[in-house]
Amino acid sequence: MATVAVIGLGTMGLGIAQTYAAAGFEVLATDAHAPVRDTAASRLAAALAPRVEAGKMTPAARDALLSRFRVVNGPEVMGAADLAIEAVVERLDVKQHIFNALEDVMRPDAVLASNTSSLSVARMAQGLRHPERLIGLHFFNPAPVMKLVELVAHPASGPQALHLARQLTEAAGKTVIQCPDRPGFIVNRCARPFYGEALALLEEGRSPGEIDAAMQGAGYRLGPFALIDLVGADINLAATESLAAAMGGSPRYHVFEALKVQVASGNLGRKTGRGFLFPDSPGPLPDDASSLVLRIEATLINEALWLLSEGGIDESGIDTALKLGLNFPRGPFEMLSLHGADSVRATLARLETSAPPPLKIRYLAAPGL
Ligand code: NAI
Repeated sequence: MATVAVIGLGTMGLGIAQTYAAAGFEVLATDAHAPVRDTAASRLAAALAPRVEAGKMTPAARDALLSRFRVVNGPEVMGAADLAIEAVVERLDVKQHIFNALEDVMRPDAVLASNTSSLSVARMAQGLRHPERLIGLHFFNPAPVMKLVELVAHPASGPQALHLARQLTEAAGKTVIQCPDRPGFIVNRCARPFYGEALALLEEGRSPGEIDAAMQGAGYRLGPFALIDLVGADINLAATESLAAAMGGSPRYHVFEALKVQVASGNLGRKTGRGFLFPDSPGPLPDDASSLVLRIEATLINEALWLLSEGGIDESGIDTALKLGLNFPRGPFEMLSLHGADSVRATLARLETSAPPPLKIRYLAAPGL
């Protein structure tokens, strides 16, 4: 059985460690901060407790899982690992420093992985003696629950590293979708229009309640505003701004004023007790629900087509990623089959014609439409 190393034992790292330990792998884990290392095993036990109490895991299985989780002092004693995943702060220099330390002790065929959500994996590989062994393994929060892992390949990633990372992560029960090293990978990028187009509608005078009701009526578990409220408007704003900057300020990733105002007001969602919609529920279904859904789905389809046109990913990969990563009832290419290309093209053309200056070219049809 392979050994997996996890560096950084915060929200993501501990969940990633749990995921591989649950699948029977030996896990070596570390964190730069001693109190985080010292509490890691008890935090993992506490994370498992509800499963044991609910009868979903036996106490013996929990004990076996915990016995496979070993906290060590630092990357320099992780030489036995076959795969090392970092989940430390989102800083290029910190992550590079960790990979340099790991390279000194790990076998040449061992794989290095980053859980980054916004940094370039290719840039992270610069300075490594073996850049071909570095890949991205982007888990979603909570890692033990979310099925999707984006496997990020940069131009120098080697086939052996991609293969081993996929093999071990699939053995840990995940659905692994390979994607290129582009800003936002698949989910964080293709999700933008779900929120963006809802915010555009809000700025045009529609209410969060009717927009969410329309999307729920079309099969979405949560509408865009309920989802922003759940995760936090501040987190959504940071993700949008980061992608907008990485994509050169393209209007497809426009940062809507309504979102900035919401964050400035301090009504961030569930965590502050009030958000766009929270604590209210969506209102009744508006008369034009189907055209609201078509508008939001047309922009989701278009973004997925832009990503597809850049290469390195196929339609079913994008569909699967959005269904698993966002709980969408269907992927963008399934939406395209549902609405038909003519209707999507016409919707985008109408939106482009009436777009205000900051949004001009936001709705240009992607190649392939
Ligand atoms: P966190 O703040 O909960 O945990 C980070 C941990 O890294 C802390 O325990 C900290 O002590 C440790 N750390 C910092 N510098 C270190 C170093 N030099 N060596 C070892 N440990 C160090 O952060 P979180 O949310 O778990 O995020 C970690 C990474 O995962 C980031 O790159 C983030 O972008 C990415 N990510 C986060 C997601 C989320 O929803 N929170 C989702 C997917 C990816």
